[in-house]
Amino acid sequence: MKVMKKEKYELLCHQIKSLISGERNRIGVLSNVSAAVHDTFPEELLWIGFYLVKDSELQLGPFQGPVACMHIQKGRGVCGTAWKLRQSIVVSDVEKFPGHIACSSESRSEIVVPLFGKSSDVVGVIDADSRDLNAFDDIDRQYLENIAKILSNELAF
Ligand code: SME
Repeated sequence: MKVMKKEKYELLCHQIKSLISGERNRIGVLSNVSAAVHDTFPEELLWIGFYLVKDSELQLGPFQGPVACMHIQKGRGVCGTAWKLRQSIVVSDVEKFPGHIACSSESRSEIVVPLFGKSSDVVGVIDADSRDLNAFDDIDRQYLENIAKILSNELAF
């Protein structure tokens, strides 16, 4: 099962690299990346997408899934905490994460990975939600961090 997941992520990373190579349209790139990740894990993902730092807050970016909150302050929810701590956060049960922001009542577990800019400031986050408890592990963290790196290199945030 885990091997399958790694293989899917390997293919996904290749797909993303060729999909975005030479592209400078950030909204288009992040939209396609959300779609590619969702297409790879349609059963596992309730929501996958981006929040981008703008005007000192996280603002909703391209995503796949149900409607989501538009603004998240630094230090708030899983996304704002990952931004503040500058590190990935894997939440096995959202009800046990103090201050979790419930955009969808269907979400049971979540992973958030920061996107770093050129001067190593956080420019946004990748957020993924699942209907299942405990859906995300270290493999998801490693590969989503890899995807964040690919995006930072290509989009030169
Ligand atoms: N649950 C997130 C909010 C964003 S939605 O899940 C799409 C949080 O606690 O930051």
